Amino acid sequence: MKKNIDKYGLCIEEYFENKNNAQVYYKRAIGKSPEMEVSKSMAKIVNQIIKKDYEVLDVGCATGHFYRSLKKKIKRNFFYTGCDPYEIFLKLGRKAWYKDKNVNFVKGNIFNLPFKSKSFNIVYSSNVLLHLPEISRPLKELLRVAKQTLILRTVVYDVSYKIQLVHNNKWFKPTKVKPKDEFDKNGNPRSFAYFNIHSFDYLKALLKKLSPKSKIKFLKDDNFSRINISKSSKKEKRPLATKIIGNEQFSGAIMQPHYFVIITK
Ligand SMILES: C[S@@+](CC[C@H](N)C(=O)[O-])C[C@H]1O[C@@H](n2cnc3c(N)ncnc32)[C@H](O)[C@@H]1O
Repeated sequence: MKKNIDKYGLCIEEYFENKNNAQVYYKRAIGKSPEMEVSKSMAKIVNQIIKKDYEVLDVGCATGHFYRSLKKKIKRNFFYTGCDPYEIFLKLGRKAWYKDKNVNFVKGNIFNLPFKSKSFNIVYSSNVLLHLPEISRPLKELLRVAKQTLILRTVVYDVSYKIQLVHNNKWFKPTKVKPKDEFDKNGNPRSFAYFNIHSFDYLKALLKKLSPKSKIKFLKDDNFSRINISKSSKKEKRPLATKIIGNEQFSGAIMQPHYFVIITK
């Protein structure tokens, strides 16, 4: 079977040809689907700290759908750069925002960002860290390119979990792996996505090690509309679209206590 893991340990099939995901994000970028609850919350946080002509970087931007919420909420002039390794998203991002002179998309990987140190006043990365095999190099990179503030939106709990969602071609179109081949002879998944959970302790210790003078704040992402989330989950028909049980967000069987982690340098 063809090797489908990249040099950073990510399964290429997750995004490379994921047309369904790309369309979902594109519709949000052009306003055909509603803004995500998380992008509205991110825009609120950014709005509290942004100054005129600030440079904002969105790492793992997909089609730049968060820009729609930023633009709506923020009344000052600012410049947005979206960075993602996958052309399937970037080309739709460029198509969605081609008229907007303050928007720029750059191909790049969170493990090795193609930007000079302190290039952006505000850097954020939403729903990316949980899907990575390890986060210490990505955090080092994000902190390197951020001048004042880094905002992470990811899943945090009292203890860490390393979780792999295993694909098969019955429900996940981008893979050729049949249900009978989900695991290799060593029990490892052939096609997968990480859905990791990081502990408060690990994140705090890692961030303190990488940026000792920074202030770190954890903000629970619970400022969402249940109705909007369940509407879009029905509309998008993605098996793992976010659903709410009790007061918590779930993806499939996994509870996802999402937080905004705000790091001020
Ligand atoms: C779950 S989506 C999140 C998209 C958007 N940030 C949001 O919150 O809706 C994960 C995004 O991270 C991107 N991504 C995956 N691996 C990455 C990497 N190594 N470096 C940068 N971005 C990556 C994917 O292409 C995708 O756009």
